[in-house]
Amino acid sequence: MSFDHAHLLGIEPLAPHDITTILDLADQYADLGRSSAKHGTALAGLTQINMFFENSTRTQASFELAGKRLGADVMSMAMQASSIKKGETLIDTAMTLNAMHPDLLVVRHPHSGAVDLLAQKVNCAVLNAGDGRHEHPTQALLDALTIRRAKGRLHRLSIAICGDIAHSRVARSNIILLGKMENRIRLIGPPTLMPAGIAEFGVEVFDDMKKGLEGVDVVMMLRLQRERMDGGFIPSEREYYHRYGLDAEKLAHAAPDAIVMHPGPMNRGVEIDGELADDLRRSVIQQQVEMGVAVRMAAMDLLARGLRARRNTKAVMA
Ligand code: NCD
Repeated sequence: MSFDHAHLLGIEPLAPHDITTILDLADQYADLGRSSAKHGTALAGLTQINMFFENSTRTQASFELAGKRLGADVMSMAMQASSIKKGETLIDTAMTLNAMHPDLLVVRHPHSGAVDLLAQKVNCAVLNAGDGRHEHPTQALLDALTIRRAKGRLHRLSIAICGDIAHSRVARSNIILLGKMENRIRLIGPPTLMPAGIAEFGVEVFDDMKKGLEGVDVVMMLRLQRERMDGGFIPSEREYYHRYGLDAEKLAHAAPDAIVMHPGPMNRGVEIDGELADDLRRSVIQQQVEMGVAVRMAAMDLLARGLRARRNTKAVMA
């Protein structure tokens, strides 16, 4: 099993075999998570620090649990109460933490590129837990694992990503990952929520849900990212739900065995019908959460192996 990356900053730098390596190991961790003894030792003796500069429920909990299940010392910084509020810069905070010798740093930040910048300043493995509108690699990986387990493969599927594409790092990472694995991607949403230059990504774009969903195997819904909008993107939530909200009637246009996904947090009755989200015959939203822990265990395990190997080489050279 080889994974030759010092950090996990995005899906962009990964090759298809890197993606498969992470998913294969995550599959094993998913089995471990379902057993009564959930612990492994891959991160024993290592220190993991979580720095979330933006709100998060499932991603932060998932990284925390993943680290603990593999035996790391895990610390989640309360960034709202941190010195950042006193004017300390991101880099100063990172350097302070770096002096405590963490091995894994998990970072979420509202600015695209902030996590890459930080990775250049510290000497541990950095995992991007979402930076602005840029990337959210572990989300795309957990989505990929959920799809692979539900559909039995991760190639030549027809996948619709729907809603607020423009503001979504989840959409961006998924488009890159699913494209690398040779799937057909359709983006569906109002033109105001489509990013400029999206055609370059080799996707098909629709502004009509029923047409866009025709025959697809996977329907991935996205949250309306109000906090990243400065007004004027949609007429009203009611109108949006009417045109772009996923309900049973619109889903009937997809393949009969199409699965429904959502990264959470969900706005029920805005982008998705609550009953459909809870319908376990179609919705894999709970599996996505479960696979999230497994994928983060796998990603941190692989990065830690690289970290140990590089440190050993340094020690031998010294
Ligand atoms: C996503 C995020 O933060 O980018 N949530 C998540 O990580 N599960 C999507 C969102 O906030 O809508």
